[in-house]
Amino acid sequence: MHFILWLNGHQTRRQNTPVENSKNIYIETYGCQMNFSDSEIVASILKENGYTYTEDVLSAGIILVNTCSIRENAEERVRKRLHYFKSLRKRNPGLLIGLLGCMADRTKTALMEEEQLLDLVAGPDSYRHLPQLLEQVGTGRRAIDTILSVDETYADITPVRLDSNGVSAFISIMRGCENYCSYCVVPSTRGRERSRDAASIVRETRDLFEKGYREVTLLGQNVNSYSWKTGDRIITFADLLGQVAGVNPLMRIRFATSHPKDISDDLLRTIAASHNLCKAIHLPVQSGSNHMLGLMNRKYTREDYQERIETIRKIIPGCSVSTDIIAGFCDETEEDHLDTLSLMNQVGYDAAFMFKYSERPQTLAADTLTDNIPEEIKDRRLREIIDLQQQLSLASNQKEVGKTFEILVEGKSKRSENQYFGRNSQNKVAVFTKTQSGPGEYVMVKITGATSATLLGEVV
Ligand code: 5AD
Ligand code: SF4
Repeated sequence: MHFILWLNGHQTRRQNTPVENSKNIYIETYGCQMNFSDSEIVASILKENGYTYTEDVLSAGIILVNTCSIRENAEERVRKRLHYFKSLRKRNPGLLIGLLGCMADRTKTALMEEEQLLDLVAGPDSYRHLPQLLEQVGTGRRAIDTILSVDETYADITPVRLDSNGVSAFISIMRGCENYCSYCVVPSTRGRERSRDAASIVRETRDLFEKGYREVTLLGQNVNSYSWKTGDRIITFADLLGQVAGVNPLMRIRFATSHPKDISDDLLRTIAASHNLCKAIHLPVQSGSNHMLGLMNRKYTREDYQERIETIRKIIPGCSVSTDIIAGFCDETEEDHLDTLSLMNQVGYDAAFMFKYSERPQTLAADTLTDNIPEEIKDRRLREIIDLQQQLSLASNQKEVGKTFEILVEGKSKRSENQYFGRNSQNKVAVFTKTQSGPGEYVMVKITGATSATLLGEVV
């Protein structure tokens, strides 16, 4: 079920005079890969309805901002940007500004009513209604649709690839989340978990391969709980990976994100069995302390997590492991923090995304715990975590020196015209002297040096 709500009786403070560029849409995206993937769905829906996509904000008649609520500073950045976009109305009085994504429902009243920054608000499940919403706004009324759906997956929409290198693309395979990690706003912003039709995912992969793409990343908040019923058969995530890998051996497959409680041996064996299923697993741990994991409602212990890591290493030798870590969650003691550092050392992560805890409204933690770690302690703990990961990443890259990897070329290196960059199966970036094989092709590269962020090598 889906409803559209109009702010009846609320006229915008100006009539939107149509201007020449009124069908030019500029989309700015914040947040996770899922959000970037959603912007490609939005671009596709609007293109089908006669709008054109522009990369130049100054030539746009409509600006859409696809937003993230995961941490307070993400929301702050968007708010500042909206004030800038509002200032552009001085030169283009007909300019329409819309807010999409995770901030939509949470901030609609403040940003639209109080700060007068917006003409349109659409939540993550409302993008099919954007053409109608824009039409309404064009007649001078504001429009809001933030109702979450239980079944919307946009399965039938072929995304328009934005900012694409023509080599790698994202495919959204499920939406929403029902894990209710206590710190996390996603269940409230993106709603119920639902999987997308497996056949449509395989079709999209094949279509991308035919267009020259050589790498897809399957996206979901918790891809391990993917489940699609067809006839009397249930397709699990491991089944789906097998099907997608079968599209073509030259198409590399990655996925994100996995929840440690759900990553099965069956899935690991599937990854080990196919060369084109990348040997890289992103397994967010959040904390190394059982005390914190309990308060975070993560549903596994440090020991469970370590067991999964050992199994990954046994079933998929040479697999890289990356993670997410939160510093300074509610009630975190110095001992809890040291547990995180010791787990990082034990696992020896190849890479990590590290964050300071930021309390979010409408989460279990906001309702039941106290955000009681002083800012300077959070800062110091985060710094220690980042410093340690820097050493671990360097060690992880240095151990590759002398090895030869199959690298998928992605493009020219930013630093030098004469160099290409690409990734190995483990998701490590390698830079090497240009060869005849260009973007979208595979080359064998022998690693001759390493920094904490990059491998340096020569084509062999
Ligand atoms: N504060 C800080 N970091 C958070 N994350 C999720 N919610 C919060 C929060 N409230 C982090 C987690 C998650 C990643 C996407 O963002 O580490 O895995
Ligand atoms: Fe941000 Fe989470 Fe929404 Fe992605 S799902 S945009 S990380 S709040």
